[in-house]
Amino acid sequence: MSSSEVAAPTGDDLRRLATSLIQLIESARQLALAERGTNELAARVEEHVGVAPQDLPVVSQSIPMYQLVDVQVAIERWVEDGARRSTDVVGVRGGQRRSHTFGELLGTGHTFRVGIGPPDYVDVPDSPDTTRTCIQFGVLLMADGDERWAMLIRIEDRGPFQQAVLEVVSKEKAGSQNLLAELRRLAVLHSVLRGQVLALSRGEGEYGGFQFLRRPTLRREELVLPEATLSQIEDHVVSVAHHRERLLAARQHLKRGVLLYGPPGTGKTHTVRYLLSQLTGVTAFVLSGQGLRHIGHACSLARLLEPSLVVLEDVDLIAADRSFGPMGNTLLFEVLNQIDGLGEDVDVTFLLTTNRVDILERALSERPGRVDVAVEIAVPDTEGRLRLFRLYGRGLGVAGLSDDDLAPASRATEGRTATYIREVVRRAALAAALEDGTAALRVTGQTLERAATTLLADRSALTRSLLGGPVEPDAEPPIQGAPAIVSRMWSGFGPGKVRQEPPPFGAEG
Ligand SMILES: Nc1ncnc2c1ncn2[C@@H]1O[C@H](COP(=O)(O)OP(=O)(O)O)[C@@H](O)[C@H]1O
Ligand SMILES: [Mg+2]
Repeated sequence: MSSSEVAAPTGDDLRRLATSLIQLIESARQLALAERGTNELAARVEEHVGVAPQDLPVVSQSIPMYQLVDVQVAIERWVEDGARRSTDVVGVRGGQRRSHTFGELLGTGHTFRVGIGPPDYVDVPDSPDTTRTCIQFGVLLMADGDERWAMLIRIEDRGPFQQAVLEVVSKEKAGSQNLLAELRRLAVLHSVLRGQVLALSRGEGEYGGFQFLRRPTLRREELVLPEATLSQIEDHVVSVAHHRERLLAARQHLKRGVLLYGPPGTGKTHTVRYLLSQLTGVTAFVLSGQGLRHIGHACSLARLLEPSLVVLEDVDLIAADRSFGPMGNTLLFEVLNQIDGLGEDVDVTFLLTTNRVDILERALSERPGRVDVAVEIAVPDTEGRLRLFRLYGRGLGVAGLSDDDLAPASRATEGRTATYIREVVRRAALAAALEDGTAALRVTGQTLERAATTLLADRSALTRSLLGGPVEPDAEPPIQGAPAIVSRMWSGFGPGKVRQEPPPFGAEG
């Protein structure tokens, strides 16, 4: 073996060499890009759009976080809508990429290298049960035949909340504007919010405080109200929607306001649930307490996604709240203004509930036309009480009891609310369980009467108040906490900040 001979390179040597070569090429490429006044991202965009993007105008659009998913849907639809359309997504690598606009990322003079990496995705709810994977930071390279765009999707922190931002570059500014307009149209048309039941809470929550609720399923017989009362509500809320075209043709307004009032525990929220279960396909917004601050958003979306129902729960609670807006107006004033501002021909129902109609009376009479009909949801009459005993005692054999059997229990609950009667039945069931630990639970008229009398004697006034009774004309107003407890079933009740969010995507067009 001569001394000039070298040992053959091992696999490891070759691997090390390959890595070094790749790094060398990469460094050379970055250097070349920098010398040309560009970076890896800008070069990729230039290759796609056909011009150096540094010289192109950026058209941008801010959208509320809850519409990030609608943007994703719109992009997918946009591609499907044209045979020559395609889209490719690239991510951006680099230290503070998130705090930069598209224009800044495409330019030079960064302290970090703007490279290409994997896009950032996030799973966002698009129904009560499902989520959709959305781009939350990435550049879409979009093409329709020869027309080309690059669009950055990013999330921006704006004080207490976030917003999504879309930024588009293409050869012509008008082309970017057209693309955004088309995406807006598709986002509204295919919005995942359409036909859903949505709770709007305080706003610091994820996705702007929007939450999908499962649509309630409540059969008509599960809501015990006098027939005349229930059909009056149905006429205004459900039937108008069914006769929409004919009413419009006859120049009748579609927008309507219905107020349900009555003592706590009589079934106002229960009625809302029944109506929601009837109105499948109708987009519903449920606002309560401080969530009522989102009235402006709810109204814009209700208009975009009509037919819609906007439920404003326990509106008396905001009658004195002056924290809204700079004018020192009450939140209630703002709510009534928004209802008024929506226009007459939109198929939107406003459904307001309150335990304290006295508080609302002045505000409503000062601004007539916001509420077309006020329906009292009163404590049940004799027939109602019998129905309630049978409804809540279905599993206890109460349905088989005669009116006479139930008469004493009915007398003992006169003037009490439906909630109260439901609790009487529960206590009767408990008593029966304690009496006999083995057999299937059965309650008699007597057990019910006894439960009603004991509950009445319950020393805790709070218990009775929470159950919505007794209703005495001179009594103190029902404790303020009671409606709040009830509102919690819609979740997200609590103090919030005034939001200065962008208007919904599509609302400005
Ligand atoms: N009219 C009614 N028919 C049947 N159940 C009722 C009725 N009213 C109240 N309930 C029962 O009591 C519960 C609380 O009533 P809710 O609708 O929240 O009262 P409100 O909103 O008037 O204060 C309901 O979830 C339901 O179980
Ligand atoms: Mg209620």
